[in-house]
Amino acid sequence: MFALTGIGHLVTNDETVGQGKLGVLHDAALVADNAGNVSWVGKQSELGSHFDGKPTDIGGRAVIPGFVDSHTHLVFAGDRALEFESRMQGKPYAAGGIKTTMAATRAATDEVLAANVARLAGEALASGTTTLEVKSGYGLSVRDEARSLVAAKTATAETTFLGAHVVPPDTNADDYVALVQGEMLDACKGNAKWIDVFCDRGAFDVDQARAILQTGAAAGLGTRIHANQLQQGGGVQLGVELGVASCDHCTHLSQQDIDALSGASATTVATLLPTAELCTRSPFPNARKLIDAGVTVALASDCNPGSSYTSSMPLVVSLAVINMGMTCDEALWSATAGGAQALRRSDVGNLRVGSRADMVVLDAQSHIHLAYRPGVQQVRAVIRGGKTVVGSL
Ligand code: NIG
Ligand code: FE
Repeated sequence: MFALTGIGHLVTNDETVGQGKLGVLHDAALVADNAGNVSWVGKQSELGSHFDGKPTDIGGRAVIPGFVDSHTHLVFAGDRALEFESRMQGKPYAAGGIKTTMAATRAATDEVLAANVARLAGEALASGTTTLEVKSGYGLSVRDEARSLVAAKTATAETTFLGAHVVPPDTNADDYVALVQGEMLDACKGNAKWIDVFCDRGAFDVDQARAILQTGAAAGLGTRIHANQLQQGGGVQLGVELGVASCDHCTHLSQQDIDALSGASATTVATLLPTAELCTRSPFPNARKLIDAGVTVALASDCNPGSSYTSSMPLVVSLAVINMGMTCDEALWSATAGGAQALRRSDVGNLRVGSRADMVVLDAQSHIHLAYRPGVQQVRAVIRGGKTVVGSL
C-alpha cells in the first residue's frame, strides 16, 4: 500500500472525479492497495483516514495514467538502418522491407528474440508505457511465428498473431493464406490473444483478410487489422464490418471509411500511428476529422524496425498534437484510455478506483508539456501495479 501526495496535476481519465474528459484534479492524492490497484483518489485535503502510513510527497509534479501502447512489433532481429538511410534520400517505403527482417528473425535464436523483446519493452517502460501489445509477423513460417509469440509473451499478455504480415518469398499467396488459417494458427493460438492482418498494397487483399480474421475469431482470438496505411482500400470498412477491436494506421481514409468508423453501431477504434508517418515521410492522418465525426481514436507507436523504430509514446503524443490537429487533452486520452479501449480493457489507461495502479510521474507541471517539449525526457518515475519500476519518487 502507498499514497502519493503533492500531485499538482493528476489525470485520472475519470470524468466523475475531476475536470473534463481527462478528469483532472489539482493538489491531489492517490492511494494504491497491496494488490497493485488504485484504492482512493481525490483532493489531498480529503485524504484523511483513507491512508494511515507515511505518504510520498511528489512536490507538485504531474501524474498521468501509464501509456497503453496498443500496437507494436517488438519480435524481430537485426535492423533496417540502411533502408532508413536510403528512404531519407528519396526511396519510398514499401511492404517488401518486411522480408529483410524476416530473414534476420528466422536466423536468430529464441534467446536473441526474447532479449530483443526485453530490451525494447524496457525502453518503452522507461518512457512511460505500462501496457504493451506485441505482434509476431517477422517469422512467416509455422515454426518462426510460433516461437515469435513465445518471445512476445515474455513481455505481455497482449500478444497478437500476425502471420498475415506479408506472403514470404517463393510462396504461393493462396497456399500461404491457407497455411496461416490452418497449421500456423494452430501452432500460434495458444500464445496469442489477438489476430491481425496487414490488409494493404503489397500485403493481403480484403477477401484474404476477411477469411483469415474470421478463422482466427472462430478459434477464439480477438481481431484487429492494419488498414489503409499505404493507400485507400477496403481494409477499414472490412474491419468495421467484422467488428474488430481496432483498425490501425488509417492514413488514407475516404469519407465512407470515416462514416463506417463513426456509425452508430461501430465498436471499432481507429488507432493512429504518427511515428510511422514521420519515419516514412507520409502524410499524417487527419485525427481532427475523425474525432469531429465521433470516432474513438487511439494513439500507438507501431514500434518496428522498418516504418517506425521508436517506442516513445511521449513523441507520439507530441506529433498527434502538432501535426494531426488533436488537442493536448485528446492526445493524452488517446494514448492512455484510447489504447486501453483498442485492447478492450478498462482496468488500465485510467486512474479510477479499482484500476491498476499504473502511472507516470512527470518532471512537469501538466500533461501539456508532453506535446510542448518534443523529444525531451520528462519521465521522473514509472509505477506499475503499485511498484516503482523506473526512476524514483
Ligand atoms: O505497421 N504495415 C505493416 N507493418 C509494419 C511495418 C513493418 C515493416 O516495415 O517492417 C507497420 O508499419
Ligand atoms: Fe504495425
